[in-house]
Amino acid sequence: MAERVAVAQKLDLDALFKRRLLMVGGKGGVGKSTIAATLALMAAQRGLKTLLVSTDPAHNLADIFGCQCDGDKGRVPWQGVGLRVQEIHPDSVLDDYLESVRKQMLPHISLNMRGPLEKQLHLTRHSPGAEEAALLDALTRLIKQREDYDLIVFDTAPTGHTLRLMSLPGVMNTWATGLLQQKQHVGRFRDILSRLEPATDDAQPGNSDAAPAVLAPLLERQARFRDAATVLKDSELTGFLFVMTPELLPLQETRRAVAALDSHQVPVAGLVLNRILPAEAEQVPFLRGVYRQQGAVLSQVAEQLSALPQIQIPMSGDVIQGREGLQQMADVMAAAAKPAAHKQKMPGRAPAGH
Ligand SMILES: Nc1ncnc2c1ncn2[C@@H]1O[C@H](COP(=O)(O)OP(=O)(O)O)[C@@H](O)[C@H]1O
Ligand SMILES: [Mg+2]
Repeated sequence: MAERVAVAQKLDLDALFKRRLLMVGGKGGVGKSTIAATLALMAAQRGLKTLLVSTDPAHNLADIFGCQCDGDKGRVPWQGVGLRVQEIHPDSVLDDYLESVRKQMLPHISLNMRGPLEKQLHLTRHSPGAEEAALLDALTRLIKQREDYDLIVFDTAPTGHTLRLMSLPGVMNTWATGLLQQKQHVGRFRDILSRLEPATDDAQPGNSDAAPAVLAPLLERQARFRDAATVLKDSELTGFLFVMTPELLPLQETRRAVAALDSHQVPVAGLVLNRILPAEAEQVPFLRGVYRQQGAVLSQVAEQLSALPQIQIPMSGDVIQGREGLQQMADVMAAAAKPAAHKQKMPGRAPAGH
């Protein structure tokens, strides 16, 4: 078979860490959390004030770091590492969210409306899409707080959520309208909402002067969502990174996600090819089939995804956990990435500082 030359650039970690937000996406089990934790550690070791956020309901960051990072605002208790970890649980985020909606609305509605509001909030708690709306709310709040950190790494980039953010302001109005419209007695609010509609295109939230106070939180949310969508589309501020193992399904999923983001003008910063078997695997009968399959998928990657800067991470024989495990992974990543322009790296040497 003619040899295919992969022309993809190597992933440039320096360029990646210059951004404010790093979204690590990919299919389940390919190594997203591991890669996200490693990148967050590397960034923190470079002196960047770093936050690692997981939105995956099946959290495993505590396992990966080998510590419960829930004290002191999630600070990872490792000397010399300025890293915080935050796990977002969709259901508790939803509770908080509904509580905030409740608090925002209560002062503005009459006594006889309070019962219906409570009932509506209760229904909303179990309605489809509610957790997603709450997660989006938490996500956009974090994006708004980006100035508090040098870098926020999102483990499990919520690609679907991101795409929905891009279809703003529709999602917001659906949510707000859904909440307010379902009960006939809130017809008054419906009128108010219809006045909100024209503001979705080009009117400024500054209009809130004219709008009733009850609308202020909705307008705030709308502005925040719009800001988040802008930030996510800005390749100087945000980098989407896809992790995949060289297998068919992860390849398909990655291609789909890259294309979907592309169609919303959200650029993808790079690709992490994880768990690559070494050439010796060809000699091991038990591994030969998998090794060849990996080779076949890697040449498809070279054909179809060579526009993305990439990095290849070998399959590790060790458990990747705790400070030592993540440090090893960080050394592997640093060696596999594009060498820093200003430094001459000594091959095989671990970085000096922590
Ligand atoms: N390069 C690698 N070599 C060996 N094991 C790996 C590698 N990358 C990840 N793993 C392991 O694969 C499993 C799944 O990784 P994880 O990061 O939890 O995936 P995800 O977050 O995508 O579901 C974990 O046990 C992790 O330690
Ligand atoms: Mg994970």
